[in-house]
Order: sequence, then C-alpha cells, then structure tokens
Amino acid sequence: MSSHRIAVIGGDGIGPEVVEAGVQVLEALAAVEPGLALEFRRFDWGSDYYRRNGRMMPQDGLAQLESFDAIYFGSVGDPELPDDITLWGLRLAICQRFDQYANVRPTRLLPGLTSPLRPELGRQIDWVIVRENSEGEYAGVGGRAHRGLPIEVGMDVAVFTRTGVERIARFACDLALSRPRKLLTVVTKSNAQRHGMVLWDEVVREVTRDYPGLTVDWMLVDAMTQRMVNKPGSIDTVLATNLHADILSDLAAALGGSLGIGSTANVDPSSRRPSMFEPIHGSAFDITGKGVANPLGSFWTASLMLDHLGEQAAARRLMSAIETVTGRGEHLSPDLGGAAHTAEVTAAVIAALEGVNSTGPSRLAG
Ligand code: IPM
Ligand code: MG
Repeated sequence: MSSHRIAVIGGDGIGPEVVEAGVQVLEALAAVEPGLALEFRRFDWGSDYYRRNGRMMPQDGLAQLESFDAIYFGSVGDPELPDDITLWGLRLAICQRFDQYANVRPTRLLPGLTSPLRPELGRQIDWVIVRENSEGEYAGVGGRAHRGLPIEVGMDVAVFTRTGVERIARFACDLALSRPRKLLTVVTKSNAQRHGMVLWDEVVREVTRDYPGLTVDWMLVDAMTQRMVNKPGSIDTVLATNLHADILSDLAAALGGSLGIGSTANVDPSSRRPSMFEPIHGSAFDITGKGVANPLGSFWTASLMLDHLGEQAAARRLMSAIETVTGRGEHLSPDLGGAAHTAEVTAAVIAALEGVNSTGPSRLAG
C-alpha cells in the first residue's frame, strides 16, 4: 500500500490549531478507511519563522516541498508584519511557483447550519467557484515610483494571457460538466475594463464552444453579488478572475453559514507539482490560542485533498462525518452559533468517522 506524503504548514494565527486538528482527523480516517495511508511532515514556516530568520520560508523551501504529494496549509498573516511580505513570502509564492493555477472553492449549506439568507434560499446553495489563481489582478506586476513625493505612484497591473485564461476556462468547463446541472456562470467586468477583461470574455467563449453539453451564462461581477443573494439556486459552477473570485468566495462562505467552513484547493491540474489545500478563513488573530477556532474548514479542505489524491472513498467518508456533526448540531463552534471548542468539534468528527460509510456521490461532483 503506497502512502501519500503530505507537507503540513500550519503558518500563522489559528492556522496551526486547525491544521493540527485536521491531521488528527486524517490519522483517524486512515485507521478506519481500508487502504488509506498518509504520512505527514511538518514545516514551521510563517511569520514566527520570519522573525527568527528574516524570511517566511527557507531559500530552498520550494525545493523541499516539491517531492510531496500535497501541501496541507493553515493560514498566513500577522498583525505585526506587512501582509504583502508575509503573503508573497509564503502562500502566494507557493501558488505561483508551483503553478497552482486552479483555485477551487466549494460552498454548500451543510445540514444543521443556518444561512443568513431566508431558509428556502439558503437551502439552494450548492456552488463551486473556480478562481483563476496565477495571474489577473494577482500577477504581481506593477511598481512604485517617486516615493514620498507629491507625484508618488503605485500600480498593480492586471495581467490576462491567452494561455492563462484558456487553461482555467477548460478546467472550469470540465468541472461544471462533471456536476449534475452542467451549468457554468462566467463572471466578468468587460463593460468597464476594456482590455484584459475583453480578452477574458473572448477566450472563455472560444473554450466553451468545445463544451456543447454545458449551459453557460455570463454575469458582471457586481450583478453576480446580488444574484448570489437573491437567486442562489440559479448558480452551480462559477468561473471568475483571481480578485473577483476572491471576493465572491468570501460572500459564498458567509452565505453558507460561516467563513469558518470555507475550504480551498490550489490545484496544479497537470500534477507536476504538489497542490495545496487550505481553509479560507485566514489567521484570525482575535481568537488565536483560545481553542475556539472552527476546524471544519480545514476538515473540508482535507476532504478536497483526499479527492485530489485519488482517495474518493476516504474523501466522501470525511465529508459525511462533517455533515453528521453539523447535522446533529451539538458540537458547533462559536462562529456557527455553538459553544464547542476546536478539540470538541475534532473529537466529534473523529467519532462520526466510525459510523459513516463512504458511499454517495463524490464531493465536488455534487
Ligand atoms: C484567500 C485570501 C488570500 C487571497 C489573501 C490572504 C492573500 O483572501 O485565499 O482568499 O486574497 O487570495
Ligand atoms: Mg480571500
């Protein structure tokens, strides 16, 4: 039985707390799921590492990660350090250098959870947002000049390339086609941004022509926010640029009950390099060390990781255990209206792993 080698980077704030909880759950899962073997190696990279070493990860950090099958990531961001240094020194550096160009963010209203939407609308949420993860507004292209002078200037140039748009469009179409509704909504802002966004539209439109089985509709990003709130059931798979999807996915997670359950896969679909899996909630310094962080986002992302590693049965079993726990409603963390600590939620999910099986549709395929 071959074992999947997972690099574990807890990072900052509540990252290490939720990721350690996730490792416990994954170890318990490996003990009950036939054929599942996982090996973990921890890396203490992040802002404390920066304070000691003047960098977020060692110079050969990417080389160290390269041989792993996946990266299980917590969060990055520290109140005492500039975000652009911490993020570009670790998380964005990994995403960009490993060309994890597809960022996948599922949202579903899990059993027992309450959406801020009216109940009949909240129940309709079952979305996957596909975020372009390598260029666009996050290309890192731009500059500063004339520092301190009245004519000082700062620029971030949104970069859209034919290759970049085409590959993410294909990924989104394939994913949308694998889901029962075969429905893709493409988000744009080409009414106001007349270069990159127009190229985006053109290239996505060309790619979608190769998918006659798919229903495709288009939304301007501003109008998309109100559609997510007013007509959640009209949406299934969403394709959006790096920044647009960043914003829409926080809205999605909040509508799904809490940012604490949002999960992400940063995928290199070619599998040449490891993909990275993380909760989307960030470092949350206001609750760090209090033991109350919601670990469900890190468990959900662990399920995405198993799915990516080809362990569909284990992925489903973990997702079912999460849903068993939310459905019972006895062990919910404060962000979900409960009083359970991280450790109690973790123990409840581990206990539920025994009782659930791994049948049913795969997680992303809906
Ligand atoms: C996310 C986060 C990051 C992003 C931040 C931390 C840079 O908000 O994963 O959505 O904007 O990509
Ligand atoms: Mg975000």
